[in-house]
Amino acid sequence: QPARAVDLVEEESGAPGEEQRRWEEARLGAASLKFGARDAASQEPKYQLVLEEEETIEFVRATQLQGNEEPSAPPTSTQAQQKESIQAVRRSLPVFPFREELLAAIANHQVLIIEGETGSGKTTQIPQYLFEEGYTNKGMKIACTQPRRVAAMSVAARVAREMGVKFLGNWGVESGVGYSIRFEDCTSERTVLRYMTDGMLLREFLSEPDLASYSVVMVDEAHERTLHTDILFGLIKDVARFRPELKVLVASATMDTARFSTFFDDAPVFRIPGRRFPVDIFYTKAPEADYLEACVVSVLQIHVTQPPGDILVFLTGQEEIEAACEMLQDRCRRLGSKIRELLVLPIYANLPSDMQARIFQPTPPGARKVVVATNIAETSLTIEGIIYVLDPGFCKQKSYNPRTGMESLTVTPCSKASANQRAGRAGRVAAGKCFRLYTAWAYQHELEETTVPEIQRTSLGNVVLLLKSLGIHDLMHFDFLDPPPYETLLLALEQLYALGALNHLGELTTSGRKMAELPVDPMLSKMILASEKYSCSEEILTVAAMLSVNNSIFYRPKDKVVHADNARVNFFLPGGDHLVLLNVYTQWAESGYSSQWCYENFVQFRSMRRARDVREQLEGLLERVEVGLSSCQGDYIRVRKAITAGYFYHTARLTRSGYRTVKQQQTVFIHPNSSLFEQQPRWLLYHELVLTTKEFMRQVLEIESSWLLEVAPHYYKAKELEDPHAKKMPKKIGKTREELG
Ligand code: CDP
Ligand code: MG
Repeated sequence: QPARAVDLVEEESGAPGEEQRRWEEARLGAASLKFGARDAASQEPKYQLVLEEEETIEFVRATQLQGNEEPSAPPTSTQAQQKESIQAVRRSLPVFPFREELLAAIANHQVLIIEGETGSGKTTQIPQYLFEEGYTNKGMKIACTQPRRVAAMSVAARVAREMGVKFLGNWGVESGVGYSIRFEDCTSERTVLRYMTDGMLLREFLSEPDLASYSVVMVDEAHERTLHTDILFGLIKDVARFRPELKVLVASATMDTARFSTFFDDAPVFRIPGRRFPVDIFYTKAPEADYLEACVVSVLQIHVTQPPGDILVFLTGQEEIEAACEMLQDRCRRLGSKIRELLVLPIYANLPSDMQARIFQPTPPGARKVVVATNIAETSLTIEGIIYVLDPGFCKQKSYNPRTGMESLTVTPCSKASANQRAGRAGRVAAGKCFRLYTAWAYQHELEETTVPEIQRTSLGNVVLLLKSLGIHDLMHFDFLDPPPYETLLLALEQLYALGALNHLGELTTSGRKMAELPVDPMLSKMILASEKYSCSEEILTVAAMLSVNNSIFYRPKDKVVHADNARVNFFLPGGDHLVLLNVYTQWAESGYSSQWCYENFVQFRSMRRARDVREQLEGLLERVEVGLSSCQGDYIRVRKAITAGYFYHTARLTRSGYRTVKQQQTVFIHPNSSLFEQQPRWLLYHELVLTTKEFMRQVLEIESSWLLEVAPHYYKAKELEDPHAKKMPKKIGKTREELG
């Protein structure tokens, strides 16, 4: 096997300088490892360090990309920093010198765009300044939105600590700072500083359309351009017109703020000058086939060859991150005392909060920390002490095909803007380095300039239902920063019509109003509403909660694969995956919600605990949507019919050439993890489609075609369900199309 190493080549000729000196030192330090040797034949200053049994990755150094200050030594004593009072840290942030100026600008303008380098203190400081300035007098609230739940939680915890208030990571918070994310409301009447996801502020409009209890709304991380943030822009702009005393702040990393200013009638832009140290960018010489493997190797090489400083790695999701962490820990164990201690810490959206907190703890002296993160660490979270960034250049992105109505989540190359944000994370505390696991050519020619706003690549059912419930009928003329594709909007209206949420005039129905009350997708809400008719709301609530915790129910440790798979199969029930989920939950509840039970059955306790929370939340909302509690008493046909009533849009039938979706005639496959994988029933419905190597249906349920006529007679014709070669029936949706104009 060829040896693998990070091979850094310094492009510039002439004096080798600091870079070489460090590498030389690193080499000396690593000499005892007997890892490879210097490439003596090379004319260029070439540094190589080969780890046993590995292949080689070669990096090429690019010219210094950014930076306006002299490099300084990385902070040596994190303990000294710790001793510094928290107030001193606050005063040291780039935003602090601009406190008065900023407050004056806010006082003088209703809408202010705030642009500042990530980590300058926008999110944690500005709401506190407003609080200190009295914007929360008389119980008025300040909202600060975050696109990500993890960011909302961790920032709220940080701010609470800075303000010295008690912060309970639990229901019924007693303090002035709290957060609110879907299915987790950590606020009370007294919570005046509210960090929340952008989706939660959207839902606030339902109960308080003019946001009357808020004095300030700060739409943070605006550059992320999530669907919910984009919709908020339109709604807030409107509210601001008839509430002149409402202050609107739009905060963004240094990107494209002119767009926001134009949208908000030329609102002024307040720039917080950045403090960024130079970041040296390195590219690989050749493309890397397996970026996960390349990541692991590179991290170890940085660890062994580079001076102190923590490492931040960007991966695309939980599974990848867990795999990378496992591989890293594995290799560290094998290297044992030959290398210094390497703390491997993951961070992703579903990570439990106690684990999240660990990434912010200072690295012990002598050790090095490597944080393996999703996009969340790009701009939402700042981790102190990062000197090295490792960027494979990918992210997970949603895409949507309005023709087929298929949504998929795929790993795609990130944009240049993203890559530059990522690199910037290395230069916050000292001069840093960013290693890109792609070539300079790929950066130039293959990456898009910016990421396409989410509104243009997602389904809009949810948002359209919400806007309709807010009384916004003319969606074509809604004030969008970037409008969604016409077809996507049309399809959303059609689907809502099919679900009975809108009538033929495109108006919200009673059932639609109820669906909007539930903080879940329209199909899931429809399923919950239908459980009333089929008298099985107890079971349906469980199914809904389990579906919401997102495919992380079972775990499969590498050394116990057979046991884990057996345990999973033991939960199988005829009918399909939804019933399996129901079965797992029911047995867990019977065990007294025991963690031991989870352990024995290879079930993730944390996911179950979350499902229980979600279930309780949904149960609490049942009364509002006039659904009574009832149980099917083992008659699972009723449960399956209720699910079908929500998901009749997601159906597939077995044809001679495999599964085809009923309406769109798309070829799809049952996911190998499904309990129905081997049975191949004739008719089924699926919860979602995921595109990996193929279009896989995840969470599938066997149905009978006659149920489709029972639950959606307006959508299916008997004929098309009988004849496998039936022509697609033209849909008649009355005035919905006309209403779109
Ligand atoms: O929003 P912006 O990126 O401008 O900065 P911020 O998130 O307010 O971060 C300001 C400072 O707070 C940084 O030095 C972060 O490291 C620190 N912080 C933290 O220690 N823990 C958190 N959960 C969030 C921020
Ligand atoms: Mg921020």
